[in-house]
Amino acid sequence: MKKKIVLALAFGLFGCTNLLAVDGYEVYKAKCSMCHLENISKADVVKNMGKLKAPPMVEVANQVKGNIVIADGDDDVHRHVVKLFIKDYIAHPELEKSMCNPMALERFGVMPSQEGKLTAEEIDAVADWIYDRYEGIKFK
Ligand code: HEC
Repeated sequence: MKKKIVLALAFGLFGCTNLLAVDGYEVYKAKCSMCHLENISKADVVKNMGKLKAPPMVEVANQVKGNIVIADGDDDVHRHVVKLFIKDYIAHPELEKSMCNPMALERFGVMPSQEGKLTAEEIDAVADWIYDRYEGIKFK
């Protein structure tokens, strides 16, 4: 009897968190995709340079994930620090923080702050999405 109640509670809770969970891809589509294309080759970036508003997300993800190296190679710490950088950059982008190459920075300018346009949950979800979306996908 007790077991059944506990199970029902667990399912109830699970259902709730599922309902509230924010989908990082939906956040990307609604809040980032107007500037950052999802996945495009280097050659197509060069061809479409005039139309692009920002480096594609595949480049952003590779740059940030590649530049941040954790001394003992701990994956959880890497995700944590990469997410911290992305989350901070969404609200407080600055020339000195950007890992973008100088030519791209000159072409696009510094990203306008998106502070106030996303909830804390959306920021967290989109940072997770960026980390996972490009696992094993290089910008080339
Ligand atoms: C109005 C256009 C615009 C929007 C909207 C935008 N960005 Fe950017 N973003 C840029 C530009 C331009 C750059 C490149 C210059 C720079 O690094 O600041 C950039 C750079 C970045 C960088 C840093 C890359 C690096 O190598 O240092 C991150 C991280 C980033 N954007 C994430 C996001 C996320 C996540 C969203 C959506 C929540 C988003 N951006 C929305 C224009 C935008």
